[in-house]
This record gives sequence, C-alpha cells and structure tokens, in this order.
Amino acid sequence: VLPKIVVVGGGNMGSALVSGLVASGWGPADLAVAESDPLRRDALGDLLPGVAVHDSPVAAQGAVLAVKPQDAESACVSLGDTGISRVLSLMAGVRIERLESWLVDGVAVVRSMPNTPSLLRQGAAAISPGTRAGEREMCWAEEILGAVGSTVRVPEDMIDAVTGVSGSGPAYLFYVAEALIRAGTEQGLPEEVSRTLVLKTFRGSAAMLEESGERPEVLRARVTSPGGTTEAALGVLHEAGFAEVLGRAVAAAAERSRQLGR
Ligand SMILES: NC(=O)c1ccc[n+]([C@@H]2O[C@H](COP(=O)([O-])OP(=O)(O)OC[C@H]3O[C@@H](n4cnc5c(N)ncnc54)[C@H](OP(=O)(O)O)[C@@H]3O)[C@@H](O)[C@H]2O)c1
Repeated sequence: VLPKIVVVGGGNMGSALVSGLVASGWGPADLAVAESDPLRRDALGDLLPGVAVHDSPVAAQGAVLAVKPQDAESACVSLGDTGISRVLSLMAGVRIERLESWLVDGVAVVRSMPNTPSLLRQGAAAISPGTRAGEREMCWAEEILGAVGSTVRVPEDMIDAVTGVSGSGPAYLFYVAEALIRAGTEQGLPEEVSRTLVLKTFRGSAAMLEESGERPEVLRARVTSPGGTTEAALGVLHEAGFAEVLGRAVAAAAERSRQLGR
C-alpha cells in the first residue's frame, strides 16, 4: 500500500508536520519524507521512528511541499514521476498558478500559509484552493494541517494579508514581549521577574481571549476602570497611535509578500 502522504523537505516545517501527524494518531507507516540532504536524512531517521525517509519523492496518495521557495520548481518537477494527484504547499510566496504550471497536468493544489507555532502544534494556517482543488482536497489539507494547529479557508488573493497577520504575527508578539520585559526592568523589576510576569500574562490573556468567547475590546473594557492604572496606560498607547502603527506594520508585511510572489 502507498503511504498516505510524502512530505517533500524534512526541514523545520516538514519534520514538525510529520511529528504532529504521528502525535495525532497517524501511523508512521502512513507517512514518508523526501529529503535531499544526507545528514538531515540521518537526523530524521532518529527524530521520526518508523517513518520512511527517502532522498527523493516516492509514490503516495498525496504530497506536502515543505522545501524553501527557491527549491519549489525542482521539488514540483521531482513529483512528476510519482503519479501523485494532490499537493499541499506550505511555501511562502509561491503562487498556485506557478505550482500548477510546474506540476503534471491535472494535479490538484492547495496552498497554505502556516506560522511557526506549528512547531508546537499551535499553529494558525490559512488554506486556498487551486483551480483543480475541490471540497475533498480542502478537507484533506485541513486534516493534515489540523495536526499542527487551526486552519481557516481564504481565496488566494488574501494570502498576503494572512502573511501580514498570522504568518509574521508571532514576531510582533515577540517584539511586544521584549519591550514589555524591558519596561518592567525600567520600573525596577529584576529581569527574570519581569520575564516571568510577561510570559504568564501573554499565556493567560491568550487563554481568556480563546475561552471567554468575548471580543478583545470587551475584555479590555472589563479590565479598564475609569481613572485607574490600565486606563492611564491605554491613554498613552492611544495617543501614540499604537493601533495605527500595527496597521502599517501588517500592510508592510502584506506588501512585501506581494512583491516576493511576483
Ligand atoms: N518555518 C516556518 O515557520 C514557516 C512558516 C510559513 C511557511 N513556511 C514555509 O515552509 C517551507 C519550509 O520551511 P523550513 O523552515 O522548514 O525550511 P528548511 O528547514 O530549510 O527545510 C527544507 C528542507 O528541504 C530540503 N530540500 C530542498 N529541496 C528538496 C527537494 N527537491 N527534495 C527534497 N528535499 C529538499 C532542504 O535540504 P537542503 O538544506 O539540502 O536544501 C531542507 O532540509 C518554506 O517554503 C517556508 O516558506 C515556513
């Protein structure tokens, strides 16, 4: 029997995806990895016990493309002899039109934009159907990416916006964390104390956002009493145009994503 999927590119993303699939109940024998780097192949053997590791793509029911964008064309071409009929791309900035042109005629393509928390199975990904992908292929992609996080569906012309929000998003939050830790030390906290408080505040706030089902503005209003400390802080953020700056940051990332896709 054919493996269910062959993951082409056993780097960070590819190996995290395979680990996630195994952790969520897929049998290692249902999975295969194609990795061109021999040293990395050895490492994958230890990292993913029971998963077949090859030097090039093998026949399977579907393929996941997890190579760097500059290797996209050669990876697509190498799928040509395998008879694979559906492909899920994780590659940033590689448009469906190009993937379809490099693959054998008739292959169905789903393009996704995942993010780094996928490495901890807490990713956020968007998926877009190619011209030959239908409901079955979209469900297939959701099943795969569901092993490493949540998925939403968007048309491909929104993928650049997704890149600006969730693709690059973890870095914005890391940046805020960094600044908040520094601000704590400026107010006299020892670095370790400030770091612990900030990390736990991030975790707790994210849990409240998710579990309360409330909109962020509602949660914010609840912790902002008139004349209180939070109001004093939010006044500064508002005056400095924090929300507007974030809007410009997302727009810059989306624009860069558009440029890279050309
Ligand atoms: N990391 C993220 O958070 C993230 C987020 C969104 C999207 N993505 C996308 O995910 C993709 C993979 O990223 P990554 O960070 O996992 O990259 P990576 O660690 O460099 O992994 C890619 C691996 O694929 C191998 N490879 C290259 N060409 C191959 C081929 N034709 N056949 C088989 N293996 C091949 C590479 O080997 P060599 O080193 O020998 O080339 C490398 O080991 C990228 O396209 C990126 O845009 C990543």
